[in-house]
Amino acid sequence: MDKLTLRWFARDLDMRGNLVATALSDSLTDSETRGRKLQAIFDRAVQDERLVAIGWCSTSGQVVRRTARYPKDLGCEEAREIASRQEAAMEIEGGPVHVSYHPIVSEAGPVGDLVLMHDLSFIERRSQDTRKYLIILIAALGGAIALVTVVVAQLSWRGWVSGAQALLRGEGLLRPMLPPVPELAPLAADLRERLRDLEDEYRRMPRSDEGWSAERLQSLLRTQLRGDQVIVVSNREPYMHEKQPDGSLVVRRPASGLVTAVEPVMRACSGTWIAHGSGSGDRDAVDRHDHVALPPGENEYQLRRLWLTEEQEQGYYYGFANEGLWPLCHVAHVRPVFREQDWEHYRRVNQLFADAVVAEARSDDPVVLVQDYHFALLPAMVRRKLPRATILTFWHIPWPNPESFGICPWRSEILEGMLGSTILGFHTRFHCKNFIETVDRYLEARIEHEHSTISFGGAQTLVESYPISIEWPSPEEAREWPSPGECRAQVFERLGIPNSHRVAVGIDRFDYTKGILERLNAVERLLEKHPEWRERFTFVQVAAPSRGALEEYRSFRERIERAAERINLRFARPGQPVIHLLAQHHDHDQVTRLYRAADVCMVTSLHDGMNLVCKEFVAARDDERGVLILSRFAGAAREMPEALVVNPYHVEETADALHQALTMPAAEQRERMAALRSTVHEFNVFRWAGRMLTDAARLRLRQRVSDRVQRHSTVT
Ligand code: G6P
Repeated sequence: MDKLTLRWFARDLDMRGNLVATALSDSLTDSETRGRKLQAIFDRAVQDERLVAIGWCSTSGQVVRRTARYPKDLGCEEAREIASRQEAAMEIEGGPVHVSYHPIVSEAGPVGDLVLMHDLSFIERRSQDTRKYLIILIAALGGAIALVTVVVAQLSWRGWVSGAQALLRGEGLLRPMLPPVPELAPLAADLRERLRDLEDEYRRMPRSDEGWSAERLQSLLRTQLRGDQVIVVSNREPYMHEKQPDGSLVVRRPASGLVTAVEPVMRACSGTWIAHGSGSGDRDAVDRHDHVALPPGENEYQLRRLWLTEEQEQGYYYGFANEGLWPLCHVAHVRPVFREQDWEHYRRVNQLFADAVVAEARSDDPVVLVQDYHFALLPAMVRRKLPRATILTFWHIPWPNPESFGICPWRSEILEGMLGSTILGFHTRFHCKNFIETVDRYLEARIEHEHSTISFGGAQTLVESYPISIEWPSPEEAREWPSPGECRAQVFERLGIPNSHRVAVGIDRFDYTKGILERLNAVERLLEKHPEWRERFTFVQVAAPSRGALEEYRSFRERIERAAERINLRFARPGQPVIHLLAQHHDHDQVTRLYRAADVCMVTSLHDGMNLVCKEFVAARDDERGVLILSRFAGAAREMPEALVVNPYHVEETADALHQALTMPAAEQRERMAALRSTVHEFNVFRWAGRMLTDAARLRLRQRVSDRVQRHSTVT
């Protein structure tokens, strides 16, 4: 750089020298001036700070005039030689100079040669400045390049990460590989979606509907739903933390068919479950986001607890849900009560849960599984905030006929809320039919009976039946069970039942829909009709306390207690009751022992969506013994015709069925039980969830295709 600038400056100084020589040439060609004034002219000229010295060579090559700083020993020949060099530089006293040599010619011929010396020290200064700026420039450039490198590295890392994620989601490497040509973007998107569709079609090739297990459900979630987030919403939580008098926490599984069914599904999906935190120690068990990992110690999914005020719980849960919708849907001869303020709470709590769903959603299209009559308004509320979400609502209780439902003052709002769902599931076709007819009666909606869909407010809802079930016990779990003989001995000893007795059990929540009174009446009738069973028969009724804050439930419990007392008074020997009424919570283990100890299990619901007690009983009887008496008004009766199916309102019929069960030969028991077990084994809870989620995946695919068609039609 120094050499280069020196050359540039040498050229500049040559030009400057030419200018000076031209300016002086007039004086130099004039012989008179040359004689007298030359020294004065030269001295004046070197006052220019750049021009350091001037020498005048005669035509004979002698330095005849010079200014003060012109080197005394520098001859004309030598000066010409230096001036002819490329840099034309030399060192004189006071610093480096540039030498230029200019022959001066008059009309008469050459008059002499002018030697000009220009200061070069400024070049040194400039070169230092240039070096400084150059270093700053290089440093800045280095910084900028480093920055660009980091940014590019970051971007390409992200690209790789999202590429890898896309690959994991099964989208292939196509996205990162596509050239970023804007005109090709629609084509690329189209291609990508076509590939997805092909993938999906391939995965959806007809397969057997048998063999549903947790693993198969997991694989369905991974493949057909691309591992999308699953959020469950229910009122009842799967585990409650209860505070003990000593301040410690115990975990309890609530008595709820919904929880029994949904929990294994949730374990397989590893999603988020949103529920009301109603246990006395629930707040102590959650983190600062109100989350707790469950099941305790296994941490397979997250529970997000929501807190309700007493008034909210009273209005939404006890009031509208359990005094209004529960009796309304069960048509069980208890009048539904509808209060304006309960409805207000119901609406607000539904909104609270809907907001929690939106807050928990990690994408704009999660799969949301809404459970039961506590959340009829929530599907439409979630749909408003997450229009692309797949909302599966499952109604665990019956759906009544349009006339019965019509007495609800907010029937339209409830139907509209439910129609925010992508899929609306009931246990039986009969309940689906009732729902479709109800919509037909009260809303302006388009119903396509052939496809079982309802179009309302621009969206379509599939109304389908998905019979719920239980998780079939694994061989490892079954191996842990005590033998039926041991269970029998334990139960008999605990309750003081004589060894010679035959035992029937009923396992329920203390609820008026369960037909407990009718069951007791049937036991009484059996003992009247068949005296041979007196002192040879015991009935054990487990009735888990439920919704005890409601008057209807309290008076129902009193009626049952009175009936049990009456029967015991009539038929029991002192210290050996015919009816054992165990009104406490029993855990899964205790219930399994009761099932295995019993000769008969009585499920006599007056109206029940499905009822899982009958399925649990069958699952617990790996010895293929025991008889199931099942109400024809429970959804399960459709799947379990090998049970003794009864009309619980008909006391005589139920008493006869009880007698038939108690006298049924072992071979017949085995035959019936084997058939029941094979049904429940196959139609397990993973099949229930699997069928719903397969339908959801199909509808999601359809949605994607129609989005694409829509996009294309707007483009073209
Ligand atoms: C029925 C309902 C469930 C409910 C369960 C227990 O099975 O369908 O939603 O959880 O009863 O009732 P509870 O009011 O105690 O939750």
